[in-house]
Amino acid sequence: MHIDLLIKNGQVITAAQAEYPVRGKKMQDLEVIEQGWVACAGKQIVGVGAGEVLPPDLEITESTQVIDAAGQVVTPGLVDPHTHLIFGGTREDEFYLRAQGADYMEIMEAGGGIASSVRATRAASLAELAASGRKRLKWMLSMGVTTVECKSGYGLDLETELKQLEAVRILRQEQPVELVSTFLGAHAWPAEYQGDQEGYVDFLLNTVLPRVKEADLAEYVDVFTEKGVFSVEQSRRIFQKAKELGFKLRIHADEMNTLGGAELAAEMGMASADHLLMVSDQGIEALGESDAVPILLPATAFVLRKPYAPARKMLDAGLPVALATDFNPGSCPTANLGLVMSLACLYMAMTPEEVFHAVTINAAHSLGRSDRLGSIETGKQADLVIFDVDTYKKIPYFVGVNLVETVIKAGQVIQP
Ligand code: NIG
Ligand code: FE
Repeated sequence: MHIDLLIKNGQVITAAQAEYPVRGKKMQDLEVIEQGWVACAGKQIVGVGAGEVLPPDLEITESTQVIDAAGQVVTPGLVDPHTHLIFGGTREDEFYLRAQGADYMEIMEAGGGIASSVRATRAASLAELAASGRKRLKWMLSMGVTTVECKSGYGLDLETELKQLEAVRILRQEQPVELVSTFLGAHAWPAEYQGDQEGYVDFLLNTVLPRVKEADLAEYVDVFTEKGVFSVEQSRRIFQKAKELGFKLRIHADEMNTLGGAELAAEMGMASADHLLMVSDQGIEALGESDAVPILLPATAFVLRKPYAPARKMLDAGLPVALATDFNPGSCPTANLGLVMSLACLYMAMTPEEVFHAVTINAAHSLGRSDRLGSIETGKQADLVIFDVDTYKKIPYFVGVNLVETVIKAGQVIQP
C-alpha cells in the first residue's frame, strides 16, 4: 500500500486499551512508543510501529510526505467535548467584577451573565457569528484541537438558536476542525418568559426541539440543570422529549449546587455528565453504573475560583473521565485545552497519562466517535498532533505554553 504521509522518529503516545472509553485505573496505561512511526494513506492511519524499518506492504515513494519528529511527541488530535463556541459580544466587564469578588450566579440573577450574551447573540448576524467562531476555531486548531463540540444556548428563542446552529454548520463545511453540534436551548430563562417557566419548557418541547430535528442541526441536546435555572424535573421532561425525537443527551450537572444531575445522566442513558464540581458520592456511584462519560472542566473552576471537581474520587470509582475547556464568554473565556490539561494535573491530582486519555479517546467516546477518532491505531482517521518537546510529560508541565508544531487532520497537514 502506498503511504501518503509518514511521521517517524517521534515519541508516539496513544491509548493502550482495546475497549473504549478507558476507565479508572486503566487510564494510567498510556502506550508510549519511543522512536515511533505513524503511516497514513488518504484520511486513514495504515500502520503504527517502532524503529527504522516499515513492514514490506507499506510502500514509500517520492510522493510520500515524510516528517521527521525526532525529539518530538506525536499524539492523537485533541478533542474538546464541551464548548460554547458561538456567541455574540464578550463579557470582560463581568470578568473584572468577579475578579473583585462579585458572584457568578448573582450577576446572572441581576440580568447580566448569560442574559447579556443572549442580547448580543440575538443582535449578531449569522455572518458575524460565523466570523467570530472561525477566529476561535483557529486558536483551538493552533493548540492541536481537531474536534470540537459546540453548543447553542445564547438565543433562547427559535430564530437565534437556529442561527447559532446554522453558524456551526457553515463552519463545519469550510474549515478542517470537526464540529459536533449540541442544542442547549435550556441554558437560562429568556426575558420573554419571565414568571412562566413551564411556558418556556413547553415552547422548547413543542416548537424548538422538533424544528432543530427537522433541520438536522444538532446531534445532542444539553440542559443547564442548576438551582435557579432548570430543575431536575424540568430537565427530565426536556430530555425525555429529546430522546423521543432521536437526539443523544449531555448535561450541565451539579456545577454550583448538588442537585442530582449526575444521577439524572445515569437514569436517562446520557452520553456525558459535565462539570460535576458538586457531585455527591451517590452521583459518582450512579455514573459508575452507567455509560455516561464525566467531563470535567477545571478552567471553569479556575476562572470562577470554585473548588475543583473530585476527579480522583471518580477515577478511583472506575469512571472514564474526560476533560474539556467549556470555552464560553462568561464562566470560562479560555479556549486553551493545554491549560486545562495543566490545571487537571495541578488541582485535580490527575497524572499526565490520565490527562492524555481524557483529552483524546474518552473525549471522543463522549461524542460517539471513539470508533474513528481519539487514538493512533490502524484503521482510524489520521488526526495527529506533533508537539515540540521530547516527552509527553513536558506538555502539561509547560503551563500555558503552546508547544504544538504540526497539526494533521484526516491525513492532511493543516498547520503550519
Ligand atoms: O458551562 N454553566 C452554564 N453555562 C456555561 C456558562 C455560560 C456563560 O456564563 O455564558 C458553563 O459554564
Ligand atoms: Fe458549559
